[in-house]
Amino acid sequence: MDRLTIALPKGRLQDKVLRLFTAVGYPISAEAVSGRRLIFCDVSDSMRFVLAKPADVPIYVEYGATDLGVVGEDVLREANHGLYEPLRLGFGACRLVLAGPPEMLERNLRLESGLRVASSYPRLTRDYFLRRGISVEIIPLSGSVELAPAVGLADLLVDLVETGTTLRENGLIEIETIMRSQAVLVVNRASHKLRFATIQALINRLAAQIAREGHGEGQG
Ligand code: PRP
Repeated sequence: MDRLTIALPKGRLQDKVLRLFTAVGYPISAEAVSGRRLIFCDVSDSMRFVLAKPADVPIYVEYGATDLGVVGEDVLREANHGLYEPLRLGFGACRLVLAGPPEMLERNLRLESGLRVASSYPRLTRDYFLRRGISVEIIPLSGSVELAPAVGLADLLVDLVETGTTLRENGLIEIETIMRSQAVLVVNRASHKLRFATIQALINRLAAQIAREGHGEGQG
């Protein structure tokens, strides 16, 4: 049978995901992950890994270019893909928060009009303000969103917080948590049907390893 292909997010989650796959029997040589290669296999050639930008991982999986993927829940909820999400991986914990300069805490956002909110999560940001009945202008940015209030581009921002360092070092404070996120395994629905036994066996091995490591709530 063909080997499975899995899309992994470049960046913060990458090393943790590779460690997890190594622990469940798919060790990857240092050589395979060195340099700028975007496609590589484990040492026994039984799993193929594809490195993609986090926001693109669900696209690879949805179109069936890869059978599986690992991505943050924040990215999944923002893009709203209809992927099967069988397992939370118990790492990559972070929060999507509304934040701004300290003086914003004193203001009643419901009484404000024309506030500008910078975010690389425009959909989740819009939903958040719609639920509260607050009208805002969303400024979509692709990164370094904490810069926006400092230069007068926006009054507020919605972005991920992991340690809180970026907010703190830019003189910003959290106003409210919008959602919690962690890394999840996603599966192409057709692959899951066609290769059920193989994929389910992998999910079970990953779930057992996560339980051994003592984090995560397992299969969803
Ligand atoms: C993420 C996020 C915040 C920062 C939060 O950015 O967008 O900027 O990390 O982490 P902290 O709470 O530990 O400081 P990333 O470094 O991924 O780059 P980006 O700003 O370009 O998205």
